Amino acid sequence: MTSIFLSPFFIAGAVLWVFAGGVAYFWMVSFLFGAGYQGAPRKSIEVMFRFAEMGPQDTVYELGAGTGAIAFPAAREYGAHVIAVELEPLRILIMRIRRAVGPAADRIQILRRNMYTIDLRPATVVTAFLWPGAMARLRPKLEKELGPGTRVISRCHPIIGWTPTRYDRDTDVFLYRVPEALNPSKFGG
Ligand SMILES: C[S@@+](CC[C@H](N)C(=O)[O-])C[C@H]1O[C@@H](n2cnc3c(N)ncnc32)[C@H](O)[C@@H]1O
Repeated sequence: MTSIFLSPFFIAGAVLWVFAGGVAYFWMVSFLFGAGYQGAPRKSIEVMFRFAEMGPQDTVYELGAGTGAIAFPAAREYGAHVIAVELEPLRILIMRIRRAVGPAADRIQILRRNMYTIDLRPATVVTAFLWPGAMARLRPKLEKELGPGTRVISRCHPIIGWTPTRYDRDTDVFLYRVPEALNPSKFGG
């Protein structure tokens, strides 16, 4: 008699559970770190790049890089040097594979680190598609570490207390320019 474990129904059920578990892990686990996973749509990424006026002279920090939706085109299409900061190991692995099989590998650095603890002083552009609480927590760090001329581009979540230089309603993308964004009255923003 065939074991129940070898029946097609059992195998199909098991595969389904593993798949559902994998999807749940991928989307939900990062809530433990403060922000879940959702990839930014290409349309909003294009607005982010246009706002940043990004080029080969830029050092871009993507905070919470996910699978590299912003990091890879920034390096490959705009020639920027990119530091993709991410905590979740599966997404780190996906980025490492993407980097290994595509161009511009030397311009893409993948950091498995907590974004709240890294040194942001080398950044000329910071991109973020995070959560409101994450932006609030990052704000003092951005104020302390970013130099004049740095652009901070956030999708969906404003930095409360800063004044955006530009905002695209259609894609919900905010551009902040340092230091004008921090002290609008002083800079006439
Ligand atoms: C909404 S996703 C955005 C992914 C990617 N930036 C994009 O636009 O497609 C947010 C990402 O932030 C990561 N994340 C959350 N908290 C983090 C932390 N403290 N340090 C590093 N990455 C973090 C999550 O793992 C997740 O991949």
